[in-house]
Amino acid sequence: MSVSSKRDDLGALVRETRAISSPFRTYLNELYTKFLPLRDGAVANYIPELARANPDAFGISVVTMDGRIFSAGDHQQLFTIQSVSKPFVFALAMEKHGREFVNSKVGVEPTGDAFNSLIRLDETSKRPHNPMVNAGAIATADLITAKDSASRLRLIMEMFRRFAGRDLNVDMSVFISERSTGHRNRAIAHLMLNFGMIGPKVDETLDLYFQQCSMLVNAQDLALMAATLANKGIHPTTGEKAVDPQYIRDMLSVMLTCGIYDYSGEWAYRVGIPAKSGVGGGMLGVVPGKMGIAVFSPPLDERGNSVRGRAVFEQMSIDLGLHIFESAGAKLPGLLP
Ligand code: DON
Repeated sequence: MSVSSKRDDLGALVRETRAISSPFRTYLNELYTKFLPLRDGAVANYIPELARANPDAFGISVVTMDGRIFSAGDHQQLFTIQSVSKPFVFALAMEKHGREFVNSKVGVEPTGDAFNSLIRLDETSKRPHNPMVNAGAIATADLITAKDSASRLRLIMEMFRRFAGRDLNVDMSVFISERSTGHRNRAIAHLMLNFGMIGPKVDETLDLYFQQCSMLVNAQDLALMAATLANKGIHPTTGEKAVDPQYIRDMLSVMLTCGIYDYSGEWAYRVGIPAKSGVGGGMLGVVPGKMGIAVFSPPLDERGNSVRGRAVFEQMSIDLGLHIFESAGAKLPGLLP
């Protein structure tokens, strides 16, 4: 297996594995071929830009800790990151304000409800249950504070650049659509303002949230972002530190318990990989110390998770033994043989 460096179509410096007979690439191609005929689900249709997505688009990407990238299918096709952005902005908020403060504004409890649930604020604390539902993500975006809206967006874009290893851009037409149709998110934000859970810059914070959701990525970007988390916060090809490693534990915990919305319990049981999905069809998963995995395929199940994404993760978890409670390798010197 020979590994070489080159610039990919998007200008990111990637280490490409040139392995005509790589067994792992063959395995990914087999997964692609196996699940391409899966025709269940429907593309998101709450805005025209997402409704136009090609239901046959399907890409898989895996990045290892030493920066090898294995892909199959449409792994270079761009789509909007949507809710996959949520754990990353959660970490940025913790880097800015610390774990305790962020936790006073956003809980870490699964809801069992849909991602856009309107009413699920904790009855006593008025906090959103977790940063993966829209209420929690909007409260988290509110914590990305800076002198003006452009500086707030810059903080988020800088963070994504560190994780993806290249500059990401906002899809303006998706952003404008999200903003002009996001009445439910607006209602959630105003309810939280009423309870004093977010500050008064509601429109600015909502714009920031819509922009973070409208960031363009491909499956390879998501796999690199996941691999960075698997690699203690160090990007596997640029070597740049993307996040304070102490917060990765927080991110992965909420991803495992809340990342796949109201399928999270089933996911933890069946797949056991901390993961996050988005309505653009993207899904990423983190296998700590081993790899980052991403799948892109727009048709979603009734809970908003990519149908092919779910199928690929379930299959990989079984085939490769990736469930965290199967692959745990605790090292306790002097306690274990
Ligand atoms: O807030 C929204 O409705 C979307 N922009 C993001 C939602 C999302 O990706 C939920 N995912 N499954």
